[in-house]
Amino acid sequence: MSPEPTESALLADTPVDAFESSLVLVSNRQPYRHRHEDGEIAVDRPVGGLTAGLDPVMQQIDGTWIAWGDGDADAEVTDENDCVRVPPDDPGYTLRRVWLSDDAVDEYYYGYSNQVLWPLCHDLVGKTNFEDRFWSRYREVNEQFADAVVQQADGESVVWFQDYHLALAPSHVREALPETTLFQFWHIPWPTWDTFRVCPQRRELLDGLLANDLIGFHTERYVENFLDCVDACFESATVDADSGEVRYDGETTLVRAFPLGVDAERIGRLAEERDEAFWESFRDKYDIPEESRVAVGVDRLDYTKGIPERLDALEHLFETRPEWRERLTYVQKSTESRSDIPEYQRLQAEVDERIDRINDRFATETWQPVVRIDERLTNPELYGLYAHSDLALVTPVRDGMNLVAKEYVAAQADNDTDDGVLVLSRMTGAHGELGDTAVTIEPYDAHELADQIEEALTMPDHERERRMDALKESVLENDLDTWLASLLGTVQGLRRATDQQNEDRDRQETKS
Ligand code: F6P
Repeated sequence: MSPEPTESALLADTPVDAFESSLVLVSNRQPYRHRHEDGEIAVDRPVGGLTAGLDPVMQQIDGTWIAWGDGDADAEVTDENDCVRVPPDDPGYTLRRVWLSDDAVDEYYYGYSNQVLWPLCHDLVGKTNFEDRFWSRYREVNEQFADAVVQQADGESVVWFQDYHLALAPSHVREALPETTLFQFWHIPWPTWDTFRVCPQRRELLDGLLANDLIGFHTERYVENFLDCVDACFESATVDADSGEVRYDGETTLVRAFPLGVDAERIGRLAEERDEAFWESFRDKYDIPEESRVAVGVDRLDYTKGIPERLDALEHLFETRPEWRERLTYVQKSTESRSDIPEYQRLQAEVDERIDRINDRFATETWQPVVRIDERLTNPELYGLYAHSDLALVTPVRDGMNLVAKEYVAAQADNDTDDGVLVLSRMTGAHGELGDTAVTIEPYDAHELADQIEEALTMPDHERERRMDALKESVLENDLDTWLASLLGTVQGLRRATDQQNEDRDRQETKS
């Protein structure tokens, strides 16, 4: 474990191509999945920013990525060490798969990860389900991941854990590999102590995480919440809120905010290169009239995303301001998610029911107020949809960051379409960076949200442009590369400090 880091060692950003350590990345979700299709083995990629954003990094560094092999043909393509080289067309790194039984998936992934930690961290304690079997299995699977890490890493490696599925794995790895640099990025919010304290396993979770040398969150607020929880939970811990350092169990962990960004330049380019024919056929297919403005919402179907609340606001708008009928179409692009969990099934039914009701109430012969698309869009199609939409409605009731908000801004890069307006919930991590120039909304207030949608639709051109210019500047400046360089720079600084300490120790031993 690292000695106390010096500030100067941590300040230098490290671009991916200058990262000098061997990297083992660990996540629940894998970047490539092999499955049977029409008698052949096909490969697909999961929806989601985490794997898409980190895959190019791994291709550049050529490290090892450890993840759950959830494809029905995954085991057929791996070697005797459960490894396969990916991307399949042009291999650049090793993917090591961890095999989970159906019960393990049920209790560790659908159970503890997504019925305890997910709602707890999103401040939705009423949706938690603390079943004992979930916890036992979470511990077991974390050990399984840790065993795989210990086989792939050594004392000089850097191991990067992703997210809330793996809170306990770092302490197991630390026991086996005391010299390895461990860090974790927590992609969801960290709640206040008042919320976190309800968790029966709060001490074990913090103990597991504090085996890392570095823990990253999206915002300063989550860092503060985490430090408060450590302070309140462990009398023996010393927490320095200014430097973000925790001394616990004889070791130091640095806790910092690294706001995740998107590959803004690439998104802007793809939006510019979009195929206009797609947009024409999209309008035709869904009967979106020429004169109708378009608002867009793109979400995984999750109760944190505020989709029913957003639909209530639209219903209120069409009800109280009939002049917007046929002049505004809302496009909801949804991705089904975690459907084995009853809360998610309820959410899906609620969203369907609201969309049907709005369309039943207000549709005319030539127009429907809400267009729902479930099919997968290619990136150029999605960014084209963003570029042509007058508004993006990003209204989560709680969200660690929300990359849709940033992608929408990045896709407004050209001059052929008018700039759009970003309507953004105060409850997202992205609001900290974009809240000054987006239209800020409170997600539970349907009437106010309806007013703000109207305000956004009637915003004067110069104001719309002014706001979008400021948003673009922020999204371009704090993009994916900035996030990576600052995270990898910090961890590289810690790694060097450990190497230096080891060298000094060896020198001392030789002298004596
Ligand atoms: O926001 C957390 C997160 O893990 C994302 O990184 C990811 O895109 C999303 O949830 C998808 O979750 P799952 O892996 O459960 O489908």
